[in-house]
Amino acid sequence: MRKNIVAGNWKMNTTVPEGVQLAQEVNDAVAAAGTLKCDVVIGVPFTHLTAVRAAIDIDKVGLAAENCANHTSGAYTGEVSAAMVASTGANYVILGHSERRGYYNETIELLKEKVDLALTAGLKVIFCCGESLEERKAGTHFDVIKNEIVGSLFHLDAEAFANVVIAYEPIWAIGTGETATAEQAQEIHAFIRGLLVEKYGNTVADDTTILYGGSCKPSNAAELFAKPDIDGGLIGGASLKADSFMGIVTAF
Ligand code: 13P
Repeated sequence: MRKNIVAGNWKMNTTVPEGVQLAQEVNDAVAAAGTLKCDVVIGVPFTHLTAVRAAIDIDKVGLAAENCANHTSGAYTGEVSAAMVASTGANYVILGHSERRGYYNETIELLKEKVDLALTAGLKVIFCCGESLEERKAGTHFDVIKNEIVGSLFHLDAEAFANVVIAYEPIWAIGTGETATAEQAQEIHAFIRGLLVEKYGNTVADDTTILYGGSCKPSNAAELFAKPDIDGGLIGGASLKADSFMGIVTAF
């Protein structure tokens, strides 16, 4: 049976000392909470990985980078490879976030390369997909999501795919305060799971965790997570305070 996961994506927020403190607060809250109904992961800037890794119990709080390079090593000034991320002790990487696709021109083909390098480095991939407001209004959102998933993930065999978590993040809901309704999110999650059934069969599809992201907060998390195909959240703004993040973690 698939895991529920609540993952934070801190984006470009916090200094290293602030990040270590936030990570410690999350770690302590998770430890104090006892048995949870979901795994907890925090996604932090590259600069924070080593210090945050030292501050958390990785068996209780997973650690994600927010990106990795599409090359293994060499003359790529400013880039950070998947193997470098793994060497910090991080166990996840977030790939394909709409902010990376939009601001840094990350294409479906480039993300395919990053996915392969991340999995080869032993990282689990949180793969983001989602449509813009224009695409939803035009009714092309199903095609957009299908293309992103098929183009960057469906070359994987089932064994490799077992290390992929999908995050549906409608761009119009990210940082806007406008959450997709639980019904809208469930519709897309069921669509995505249907794609997985077609490609990999029922067992893999049933075992794949599909997260919702976009203005998820303690007040709406329980309604979202109650839907059968919503297996947790990828949390931006509300992951920057331990108490609001834990309010989502405990919504299960
Ligand atoms: P917000 O939760 O701030 O809307 O961000 C969602 C997101 O982009 C997570 O990756």
